[in-house]
Amino acid sequence: MKIAIMGAMVEEIEPLLEYFKEYEIVDYADNRYYFAKYKDLELIIAYSKIGKVFAALTAATMIERFKATKLLFSGVAGAISSDLKIGDLIVATKLAQHDLDITAFGHPFGYVPEGKVFIESDKELLDISKKVANSKGIYLKEGVIATGDQFVNSSEKKEWIQKTFHADALEMEGASVAVVCDALDIPFFILRSISDSADMDAGFDFEEFLKSSSKKSASFLISMLDEIATA
Ligand code: ADE
Repeated sequence: MKIAIMGAMVEEIEPLLEYFKEYEIVDYADNRYYFAKYKDLELIIAYSKIGKVFAALTAATMIERFKATKLLFSGVAGAISSDLKIGDLIVATKLAQHDLDITAFGHPFGYVPEGKVFIESDKELLDISKKVANSKGIYLKEGVIATGDQFVNSSEKKEWIQKTFHADALEMEGASVAVVCDALDIPFFILRSISDSADMDAGFDFEEFLKSSSKKSASFLISMLDEIATA
């Protein structure tokens, strides 16, 4: 089985590269792809660079060019829900683009014709994540993740996203990866560990906790690979 593993920033995939140690490297479309073997799995690992466009390009490349049949994303997010603290894990049940706005034409936020506001994650991968969390006694929140090309550092903006999309966390890539995987019929899973609370302290917290939260997300993802490999 060929599994794509994505992050947005190098810090988000570094713990994975350190764990798998040996890989082949292929440079393509201004990005670097790392190929590793783990148990009976073939892994393709890359960070896309920040934002929806780069993330969509990387996801599409991993699927179309490198033939990944599942895609797992690991990284950090800003918390919206008050039960998410720094370092906690959230997995997206569904994702929406909070910055997609053609409301001028009577459409809801996050919607364009022939698209959908929310894209649902793969149920089997969600079940595997719940199993891993239960067996390891790890708190894993399931919730809605909202994505946009903005680093959110304002309580007003965060409350608007909460109210409009009932989102529990926000970040800058997940929904675009979801759109690509949904269109190409590839099961996907978006995992995030909280780095900040998307409020006025967000910039400071993000820099402080990017590495430690990235590690928590990556280590959970590795446990999921163990489960997928033995399944
Ligand atoms: N990823 C982590 N924290 C974030 C924030 N506050 N806004 C957007 N993306 C993020």
